[in-house]
Amino acid sequence: MKHLMSTIIASVFLLCLLFLVLALSGCSAEKPKADGISPQKMADALHAVIESDRTVYTRNVVNRLVKEEKVIEASEHWKDDKGLPLPAQMFRMGAEMVSEKDAGFTYSLLSMWPVNKQNAPKTDAEKTGLKYVADNPGENYYTEEELGDINYFTAIYADTAVARACIDCHNKHTDSPRSDFKMGEVMGGVVVRIPLN
Ligand code: HEC
Repeated sequence: MKHLMSTIIASVFLLCLLFLVLALSGCSAEKPKADGISPQKMADALHAVIESDRTVYTRNVVNRLVKEEKVIEASEHWKDDKGLPLPAQMFRMGAEMVSEKDAGFTYSLLSMWPVNKQNAPKTDAEKTGLKYVADNPGENYYTEEELGDINYFTAIYADTAVARACIDCHNKHTDSPRSDFKMGEVMGGVVVRIPLN
């Protein structure tokens, strides 16, 4: 009788141990499954790369060679003038190459005070977002919008005057609607769009 009891206790104990091991392995098997990255995290990460490349080009290539060393000009007609492409042109060349690759997102550079009228905001989200980032320094604008039957996550980030070259060029450009930009001021916005369906 005593022997039977200890066998039962031992079996129950072993069963519990088995359940515990199964439960733990179940948990650990689930851990490696990534939760997926949210559209906002993805847009923020993409923007960090876009903005850094843009700032590095403006400070270390355009501003240094045009303003400090005075060895070359940056020009809209950079090929004919044998000059440097403008930061906005570098931006667009990259954005066009990404859109040809069908990489799952698009991006553009817009402003409420555009030198090039093509860069004015068009959709409601762009208009609201550009105003928001200009009025709320340090904040981004996130929304969803439907364009041609496709639902997009749209993020808008401030584009700020990070070098003297930014404001000097815009303030004296004949097509610029503003001539009073200051260092550190918001001059426009970067729009990152990710399709959701
Ligand atoms: C040498 C002149 C020059 C410099 C330097 C320059 N820009 Fe521009 N920027 C332009 C021109 C010209 C355009 C329009 C280009 C186009 O779309 O063809 C433009 C476009 C833009 C746009 C899109 C809206 C618009 O005005 O058409 C933004 C925003 C912008 N620039 C901000 C900046 C910032 C911020 C910097 C510094 C990081 C900068 N720019 C440096 C000349 C310049």
